[in-house]
Amino acid sequence: LTLPFNINSLIISEVTASDIDKLRDISIKTFSETYESLNTPENFAAYIQQHFNTEELIKETKNKNSVSYLARINDEVVGYLKLNSENAQTENISKDSLEIERIYVLKKYHGFKVGLKLLDTAVTKAKELQKKFIWLGVWEKNEKAIYFYKKNSFVQFDTHIFKLGDDDQNDFLFKLNI
Ligand SMILES: CC(C)(COP(=O)(O)OP(=O)(O)OC[C@H]1O[C@@H](n2cnc3c(N)ncnc32)[C@H](O)[C@@H]1OP(=O)(O)O)[C@@H](O)C(=O)NCCC(=O)NCCS
Repeated sequence: LTLPFNINSLIISEVTASDIDKLRDISIKTFSETYESLNTPENFAAYIQQHFNTEELIKETKNKNSVSYLARINDEVVGYLKLNSENAQTENISKDSLEIERIYVLKKYHGFKVGLKLLDTAVTKAKELQKKFIWLGVWEKNEKAIYFYKKNSFVQFDTHIFKLGDDDQNDFLFKLNI
């Protein structure tokens, strides 16, 4: 397999105030690529509107318990990661945990270890914060992501409901001990 880029040229850096537009664009693009065809246009649009508007993203990045990262190759944003700790976590799981709320790579870059590098970033952050485990919720229908997590030693420990518009979706909760 020949990579269309050198994985060593991948740069992962924390989102700053000047990156908000880039974060919004990659969020919408990757969310669309992953879920648009699997949901009603109304539910999909409602979710995008609620979560990926500039005001909401600015608020989230100002939260000291939430940190997002952009992954870039030659200045192109190819993916992103969003981590939450303490009360920024979307479920009251533990003070000792770090949540991966979002890990997304542009479709054309799937399979080239960008996801793995983002996961490494989460593990490094979890160690730095002295967390005992990383957890995340993944839609039961998202087989590719489930495969990716299992392959990287995550194990299922629970389920929860994720609301996409008015649709209650069943998520598997996975964890990785640090
Ligand atoms: C899950 C995700 C982040 C993984 O990122 P990635 O950069 O593709 O991850 P990796 O390259 O490290 O690993 C992907 C695995 O799929 C395999 N794969 C091969 N070709 C692939 C392709 N065209 N597309 C996707 N995966 C492919 C890879 O080989 C690898 O498995 P392997 O190590 O056994 O070979 C990415 O697929 C993604 O963004 N998916 C859409 C968004 C999503 O579902 N996010 C998670 C929400 S909970």
